[in-house]
Amino acid sequence: MDPRPSIDPLPRHVAIIMDGNGRWATQRGLSRVQGHRHGKDSVREVVETAREIGIEYLTLYAFSTENWGRPRREVEALMRLLKRYLRSELRKMMRYEIRLRAIGNLRKLPPDVLDELRRVEAGTRHNRRMTVQLAVGYGSREEIVRAARSLARKVRDGRIKAEQIDESSFSDALFTAGIPDPDLLIRSSGEWRVSNFLLWQIAYSEIYVTDTLWPDFRREQFIEALQHYARRERRYGKTAEQLAEEA
Ligand code: FPP
Repeated sequence: MDPRPSIDPLPRHVAIIMDGNGRWATQRGLSRVQGHRHGKDSVREVVETAREIGIEYLTLYAFSTENWGRPRREVEALMRLLKRYLRSELRKMMRYEIRLRAIGNLRKLPPDVLDELRRVEAGTRHNRRMTVQLAVGYGSREEIVRAARSLARKVRDGRIKAEQIDESSFSDALFTAGIPDPDLLIRSSGEWRVSNFLLWQIAYSEIYVTDTLWPDFRREQFIEALQHYARRERRYGKTAEQLAEEA
């Protein structure tokens, strides 16, 4: 393996839209499911690299609410892959002190997949070196609506005042409560879309889009994305001069 690259500044939280498994497979005359299978190997390599480099939070868009509408065989294959991934990675997550969390509407998941998710979440919940958030059955608008509803209920029940709702309490009502917003959002396969992913949380994230299809997105491509991030300047709406003064 290459020596550990030094990336400065390192993003604390990287979120990834893993796209292009289907196209990767079609280009090779393989089935879409074969593409997802190779995509799973990319997931493994990116998680290992993130852990090695010192990324604290990694959020992966594994399955969107819209993905439920794909052909049944493909949905079933994705669920099987997810279950197999969780089974095979638990030991490694313990060894590398990785905590796994699932975000999304998990109610539609097949019971055996949900059981496996809960088992890995429970087993890894005290791990502190890195947190991997798997977005499964996830849709950001749905997440925002749920947050609004839960805050509305609290106001109705007199537990909080409407004036107390602010950005911080709103963030705390999302699936990602307690997790810092992503510094970097990566999307593979060249599409310039955010596809209902972390809409609230990416307000200030740097965005990196690469033409590489997800099954080809491995250690080298991930490091390239991080180096690209490190070269950018984040201004949060301020001028470069103001930031230089604050430094
Ligand atoms: C997009 O490819 C990818 C997905 C729908 C889900 C991502 C799934 C994996 C990486 C496989 C397993 C995941 C885990 C966590 C083990 P696409 O089918 O939309 O590609 P296309 O746009 O080229 O058709």
